[in-house]
Amino acid sequence: MLVIKNIQDWLQAHASRESNSTLGFVPTMGALHKGHLSLVDRSHRENDTTIVSIFVNPTQFNDPKDLNGYPQTLEADLSSLENAGVDVVLLPDYNQVYPDDYRYKIIESEFSQKLCGASRPGHFDGVLTIVMKLLNIVQATHAYFGEKDYQQYVLIKEMAEAFFLRTRIVSCPTIREDDGLACSSRNARLKSEERALAPQFYKTLTQKLSMAARKSQLESLGFKVDYLEEFKNRRFGAVYLGKVRLIDNVAI
Ligand code: PAF
Repeated sequence: MLVIKNIQDWLQAHASRESNSTLGFVPTMGALHKGHLSLVDRSHRENDTTIVSIFVNPTQFNDPKDLNGYPQTLEADLSSLENAGVDVVLLPDYNQVYPDDYRYKIIESEFSQKLCGASRPGHFDGVLTIVMKLLNIVQATHAYFGEKDYQQYVLIKEMAEAFFLRTRIVSCPTIREDDGLACSSRNARLKSEERALAPQFYKTLTQKLSMAARKSQLESLGFKVDYLEEFKNRRFGAVYLGKVRLIDNVAI
């Protein structure tokens, strides 16, 4: 597995690739779990080469405490990517990725303002900007995103269409723990009693209840509800358990 820290090194390696081969890309912020590995697996099955990036993108954190508390597990991440047979890992730093210090941004003005965007101002500007940069750097044929972050996936797919990007944006199903909790890097931050309660979030999202009953059920269980909304044939939710914010969504 090739670990590349310098973007120029990647561009050089990429220039010598065969022009008709396929390249699958999985962008991540590290703290890898089964969900990320399922994206890697899909990329493997569909491409000649798979590249994964690990970059904790500061511009998508509206809360500095959330950024500081974000789990960083680089050594474990590299060994699980090696075991998963990844070909290349890109590990750029802030100065390389943001030579403009975030003066230039990608802004979507409608869907990015709803759901997570309403409670995390600027979050999707940061996500779309970093994904645009990474897609331009990596120049993959396919890029893989999980449906747990369904709003993010839709915004990225529409951005790729709006800007005529060459990379095909592929969505992959949410991977869940045996008890139904969607895999997320944030799960590691749950205290043991919060972790025991967390699967009730998904269970409540899938139950046949009115939205008001769903909200009060979650609140009476001990969740703080950020939002619960139905939009474009999906039911979306974001809740807090203590300091940890969890999101999930289901098709309806
Ligand atoms: O989903 C994530 O981990 C991040 O939002 C992404 C797509 C890697 C951009 O930083």
